[in-house]
Amino acid sequence: MIRLLVVDDIASTRQNLQKLLGFDDDIEVVGTAGDGREAVEMAHATKPDIILMDVNMPVMDGIQATELLTEELSASPVIIMSVQGERDYLRRAMQAGAREFLIKPFSHDELVAAIRQVYMLEQKRGTYLADHAPAQTGVAATARGTEPGEVILVFAGKGGVGKTLLASNLAVALSAETSAKVALVDLDLQFGDVGVMLNIDHPRSITDLVSSGEAIEPEILGDVLAKGPGGISVLLAPLSPEYADLVTTKHIRNIMAGLRGQFDYVVVDTSCHVSEFNIELIELVQKILVVTSLTIPALKDAKLTLKVLESLGVDAAAIQLIVNRVDAYSDFNKEAIEGNLRSPVVAQLPFEPRVVGEAVTRGVPFVEIQPEAEISRAVRELVAQLVPSVVWAGRREPDKVKKRRSLFGR
Ligand SMILES: Nc1ncnc2c1ncn2[C@@H]1O[C@H](COP(=O)(O)OP(=O)(O)O)[C@@H](O)[C@H]1O
Ligand SMILES: [Mg+2]
Repeated sequence: MIRLLVVDDIASTRQNLQKLLGFDDDIEVVGTAGDGREAVEMAHATKPDIILMDVNMPVMDGIQATELLTEELSASPVIIMSVQGERDYLRRAMQAGAREFLIKPFSHDELVAAIRQVYMLEQKRGTYLADHAPAQTGVAATARGTEPGEVILVFAGKGGVGKTLLASNLAVALSAETSAKVALVDLDLQFGDVGVMLNIDHPRSITDLVSSGEAIEPEILGDVLAKGPGGISVLLAPLSPEYADLVTTKHIRNIMAGLRGQFDYVVVDTSCHVSEFNIELIELVQKILVVTSLTIPALKDAKLTLKVLESLGVDAAAIQLIVNRVDAYSDFNKEAIEGNLRSPVVAQLPFEPRVVGEAVTRGVPFVEIQPEAEISRAVRELVAQLVPSVVWAGRREPDKVKKRRSLFGR
């Protein structure tokens, strides 16, 4: 039974909500309140499982009440209800510690789904905290043992150069070719398209991790991550662009720490801006793959991007160039590009519109459906360059690994 406290200053709204929830056998309204102050008192008295909270109320508004309750009664999570267009409330509510946000008018199904979801996550958090002594961090057995995983950022100064395509196929190939556990994270927060690229239909996204406090527990992570092809786990971007700025670099810090405890590799897709967010993100990663195509504007932007990285003090050894869309018409000279951009070209991906087109249309990675295509080979070569031999152990017989690695001429 989920015990609920309903808070709204309009009596008829309270009654309607009670009536609406009367149909659900697993939900019981244990109290109602007409303003924030009353809500805090009632919550202390009834210790509800969930608090359904309006924003605009007399005496004390819902945001302030949520802030107090998050501090005083953290086991009673708050779901905020607000009307459309109050975008600023959404941010403030999440900052105040609200776990979920419902836009009025919402349907019965939406309401019940939100209540059950928040309840379930809270239960998991409770069990996790009870099962784990504070000193334990819940590090899973990965190919690296207890060493934290490596974050590989896929970055570019220009959109459309193939970041998302590379990030998704790289993650899948990493997982398929090695014994590593791999996560793919979509940090193109506004217009992330890892979900469409890999045809993942999953209701949870990174915004579900924003409200879950300081450390991100493995159970919560397991719930929010989607299953992707080739055994990878995928953290999707917010479902709608307006949720993007709910995710701050402080959250990313916690999320990355959580992921690095669980995965050997965390491949991150990004937006192409040299934004404050991306600059802070760069500090959290171990490797940066800068993707460029061979057009003059793309090369110019790659050069500028590399300059910015240099000025930020990023270790040059952590940066590698990937040249994408190489075709018979492009005047590709590896040495010239390396000299001009002063960074090693670690991989060149051919322009293969047929292979890529089919994969993108079907929402499947080309490394899976066309493993013998040139572009798939190029991605596997990249994997071989990025991954130290220890991660291969246990997956392939040693001679096969050797052969494969020497094939790449290293
Ligand atoms: N090597 C390639 N061969 C053929 N088409 C490509 C290649 N790389 C990228 N594309 C095309 O460019 C599109 C944009 O790629 P995407 O990864 O979404 O770019 P970004 O994430 O950098 O904005 C892809 O959907 C694909 O159609
Ligand atoms: Mg993209």
